[in-house]
Amino acid sequence: MAAPLISPSILSADFARLGDEVRAIDAAGADWIHVDVMDGHFVPNITIGPGVVKALRPHSAKPFDVHLMIAPIDPYLEAFAAAGADIITVHPEAGPHIHRTVQAIRTLGKKAGVALNPGTPAKTLDYLIDEIDLVLVMSVNPGFGGQSFITSQLRKIEAVRKMIDKTGNPIHLEVDGGIDVVTARQCSDAGADVLVAGTATFKGGPSCYAANIAALKGTD
Ligand code: DX5
Ligand code: ZN
Repeated sequence: MAAPLISPSILSADFARLGDEVRAIDAAGADWIHVDVMDGHFVPNITIGPGVVKALRPHSAKPFDVHLMIAPIDPYLEAFAAAGADIITVHPEAGPHIHRTVQAIRTLGKKAGVALNPGTPAKTLDYLIDEIDLVLVMSVNPGFGGQSFITSQLRKIEAVRKMIDKTGNPIHLEVDGGIDVVTARQCSDAGADVLVAGTATFKGGPSCYAANIAALKGTD
């Protein structure tokens, strides 16, 4: 099995030195840069907006994997696309019309992802799967880094993997929340090919990032 791609969540970075942190994880072997955007409304935390994405863009040529936890979504898509997002992932619950939102992301020339909260079933994808580039299975409830992996989501990863394989399209299956060396392996075995990791990437500071990412990939 190929090593998973690792998309470190900069939510666990030092926000006072974000540009340096993005350069450090890029140099340490991050495949994508995961940006968690929270609005204090759709989720109980507030993080960053398109201005910060734009400011970080020159610090890495790796894909910016932008996870929007905001409601409404549609009025902000253009700003995140212009700021330099490559992949824009949205939650169906944020509404109002997920299919329209996914189409709008692709019309902006970006890759579209749909996120499934722990309580959201895989069948939510039934009428979306042919229109998207990525499925994000949330293995914690969105809002905060450092939460424990919800094991029941492994079954959902397996189910989504089957749905993706049936399409024959190159759709990524990403997992977000509570990823460490143990759960990373479980998610890969269940069919994930991209893993978000905040705490597990940034623990120990910059001198540890390369070893942390290699351990998550299982290539250490
Ligand atoms: C949660 C975010 C995650 C989270 C991951 O809402 O989407 O990206 O920060 O953090 P860890 O890896 O610390 O669970
Ligand atoms: Zn995320």
